[in-house]
Amino acid sequence: MSDVTVDIENFKLLDPAVQQCPHLYYEKMREECPVYATEVEDIPIVLVTKYEDVLEIIKDTDTFSSQTGGGAALPVNAELADKIRQLYKEEGGYNRVGTMLTIDPPEQTRYRKLVNKAFTARAVSSLEPVIREISAGLIDSFDTKGKVEFVKEFAVPLPVRTIAKALNVPEDRLADFKRWSDDNIAPIGTALSDDQRLVHERGIIEFQHYFAEQFEQRRQNPQEDILTNLLNARIDKDEDPDLPDEPLTMEEMLSIISQLVVAGNETSTKTLTEMMLLLAENPEQWRMLKEDPERAGKVVEETVRMTTPTQGFWRFAKNDVEISGTKIPAGTRLVVMFASANRDENIFPDGNTFDPDRSDLFSHLAFGKGAHYCLGASLARLELRVALEELVKKIDSFELSESNDFEYLPSFMLRGLKSLEIEINPA
Ligand code: HEM
Repeated sequence: MSDVTVDIENFKLLDPAVQQCPHLYYEKMREECPVYATEVEDIPIVLVTKYEDVLEIIKDTDTFSSQTGGGAALPVNAELADKIRQLYKEEGGYNRVGTMLTIDPPEQTRYRKLVNKAFTARAVSSLEPVIREISAGLIDSFDTKGKVEFVKEFAVPLPVRTIAKALNVPEDRLADFKRWSDDNIAPIGTALSDDQRLVHERGIIEFQHYFAEQFEQRRQNPQEDILTNLLNARIDKDEDPDLPDEPLTMEEMLSIISQLVVAGNETSTKTLTEMMLLLAENPEQWRMLKEDPERAGKVVEETVRMTTPTQGFWRFAKNDVEISGTKIPAGTRLVVMFASANRDENIFPDGNTFDPDRSDLFSHLAFGKGAHYCLGASLARLELRVALEELVKKIDSFELSESNDFEYLPSFMLRGLKSLEIEINPA
């Protein structure tokens, strides 16, 4: 990491070389220009890198909007926007409405309340045995004599199968579900050609048709699952007299499902992978886990801080405002850099060091804060902890293979390793 030249004058957010090692850039920005103006795909943006500024922005939904128009994806040119509209018309796609992540209170509050009624603490904790079984099964199928490509053999299938289970997707549709999940995620934080984008939009329409049919089936035959809960979720008028109490429309439910898939899969994949890398780099932590598996929760929390796969997220300034002494005109597109905030030395002394015993373990912003606080945080924590417990139980020790090139995917929103090969010694 230390032999990388950090030239923030010529910084480009989507440059693969930057994404390979962004923390040195963020560190320099925090020191020299914590509010950093740049552009992505010719669109001017401002990166906010200090913990306190990030926190202030995400808590102030009156001044800073999450309403980006195009959802979480990178903005598209007018010609491509037309082609996408045309495709949806021809293929009978559903209008993609903003729900939760990309809208503001009070509309966002209504969605959160309704989704919370479906995605309950009970629904999440009931997934623990499922996650344990999937994790154990995946580890059992590792080739114990040889090498394991951890991303492909564990970190990708675990979250996909978990969310598929939560959404009651049958085994024989798992491969489709994985493909649709990739289609939903592809345009987020990564530059795509127009043709690539259209291929993914086609996949999203397929995904919409599948789940629309599932919702219709549950309207006729309700089941005990999140889809049925979403169909039946209503605002409690005694509790929230000001929120509209109509049921969710099909477009809204499909958008919610898409958001759960997008927000829940890749984030967990990236964090699981980084957890193994961090444990390989800190073998004493693995040994401590072997002796005391109850440390898993702490290790997970510190992994989430260090990894912060959702490195940054969009906000719009609704008014003229000043951040760390820099004037930000109304309409400016900002990116709150959670990944930078989580290594801010003012909050996390020795922030580049993996230390599950740090006193400020839970201060990180990897799951955001306030109105948009990650709806899946408890599922993510459960998934990571259970996975780690099973890995520690079934693997005595492991090393990183020499063949690793540690290449990161060039996305600033969902940063993670393309692959991670490990050599394991079973317990
Ligand atoms: C390690 C894994 C995860 C990380 C690091 C993560 C990170 C985040 C962050 C930073 C936000 C806030 C974005 C903002 O403020 O604009 C967020 C929101 C969200 N996350 Fe997660 N997430 C993870 C896992 C999950 C899972 C497993 C699910 C669901 C299955 C999920 C669903 C959501 C949803 C629906 C929102 C939007 C909430 C809202 O805007 O009201 N996330 N997540």
